[in-house]
Amino acid sequence: MSIENSRDNTVPARRAVVFHYSQTGQLTDAVEAFTAPLTAAGWRIRNVAVTPARPYPFPWSVPAFFGVFPACVDEHAEIELATPESEFRAEPGELIVFAYQVWYLAPSVPMRTVLNTHPELFAGREVVSVVACRKMWHSAVLEVDRRLAALGARHLGAVVATDTRPQFITLITTLRWMFGGRRGGRGPLGRAGVDDRELERLRACGRDWAEPGTDSAIVTAPVVYPVAGADLLAGRLFRRWGRVIRAGARRNRALGAVTVGAFVVWLGLSLAIMPLGVLLALPLHRRLDRAIDRALGEVTSLRRPGPLDTAGAETAVTGTAPATEMSSAAVRPGDRLPAYPLRRDTGAEITVGELHETGLLLLCGSEAEPAWRDAVGYARIMDATPLAALTISITPIIAADHLHDPTGAALAGYGLHDGTAVLVRPDGIVAAVLRGSDPHQELICAIDDAATGARQPEGDPR
Ligand SMILES: Cc1cc2nc3c(=O)[nH]c(=O)nc-3n(C[C@H](O)[C@H](O)[C@H](O)COP(=O)(O)O)c2cc1C
Repeated sequence: MSIENSRDNTVPARRAVVFHYSQTGQLTDAVEAFTAPLTAAGWRIRNVAVTPARPYPFPWSVPAFFGVFPACVDEHAEIELATPESEFRAEPGELIVFAYQVWYLAPSVPMRTVLNTHPELFAGREVVSVVACRKMWHSAVLEVDRRLAALGARHLGAVVATDTRPQFITLITTLRWMFGGRRGGRGPLGRAGVDDRELERLRACGRDWAEPGTDSAIVTAPVVYPVAGADLLAGRLFRRWGRVIRAGARRNRALGAVTVGAFVVWLGLSLAIMPLGVLLALPLHRRLDRAIDRALGEVTSLRRPGPLDTAGAETAVTGTAPATEMSSAAVRPGDRLPAYPLRRDTGAEITVGELHETGLLLLCGSEAEPAWRDAVGYARIMDATPLAALTISITPIIAADHLHDPTGAALAGYGLHDGTAVLVRPDGIVAAVLRGSDPHQELICAIDDAATGARQPEGDPR
């Protein structure tokens, strides 16, 4: 389906293409609320409905709802789409509105499929994400932000609509809606999902954003810290569970079903003790809130699109290189790590390759060291893959896991600036260049990819 809206104007119209999927129409309402002011301001908006070839059930059955979990938390998952291939295109100068709902703290499988099967759509484009979900969008938004950057897009930010009523009420009403198909409204628990006030907030975001003149970013995804903290923690655990379940299912179906059952029990228990966890975390809340702000970075507000050139191309992104270049890394995944002479704490000259023989090695610069060391500690708990870390610094630091780079050549050559880190395989090949917007998640995914790549038979592109 493709609908075109436009308004005559003497200045060249800004254009956008919206890719979206919605089961109940909630996400469609959110997208329309945000884009209506753009259309009114003269933007030409094209809509592309993403349709799974085998529709997901609505209302959901219990087995279907939990059965979709492993695919939801698998970054590589994709399904067959009924949307004609010809719809997956973006015209010159078109901004992309990538709209998705959250399924298990991750972008829904149909929309994840678009990222996985049509990476060319995003390269060099400006992208705005629009999300409508119950409440827990943080992990999904960070994942999409990271994926878009890796595809070479400039993510301008996320516009998020949620059910703003209390967490436990929305849990009950959303499940009632998903399993019973009734959104409700008359009873004491109220109507499930995004309400009219939220839609009005999205309209206001659209109006502010469409208005030319100011350069300031607009807050489009208000953060509720206890929910965000639980979401970011659970997001990691969900991905871990997904790996366990997929590994079980690969052995046999029964083991897959048993592990899904174990996940459901764990989920129920976790939800039951969540209020206690929030209470226990209260004394630390200032530190936790700062960590959440750091993790979410700029994604909760919407930056302005770049200026339009006369050919209709967004000059701000013309020729934008893939994320690895945007993050100023000089090495790319698949490169052999160049050997720069560095100094150990003993003063002896050495190269990274001489130090690194087994396992994976993470290289980072000193300014981003705390975040990356934290992520390495976390990855060691979550993943059995041997992992070491080395910090390279221009000023000498006397420690065995630091190397001194007096000329700065290695830091520049590896691109260890602006929080970027480089993950190196035992054979000296660069496994991943990590931007550092979400170190924990980036590192866990890169380790997983490196392990999967190592297991992949030759010629299997996955
Ligand atoms: C399988 C499944 C998992 C979901 N997981 C989450 C979640 O983790 N966080 C959240 O806030 N909402 C979650 N939701 C709610 C959806 O994000 C969304 O609000 C709902 O499915 C309606 O969206 P739609 O009708 O526009 O497709 C989930 C819904 C489904 C069906």
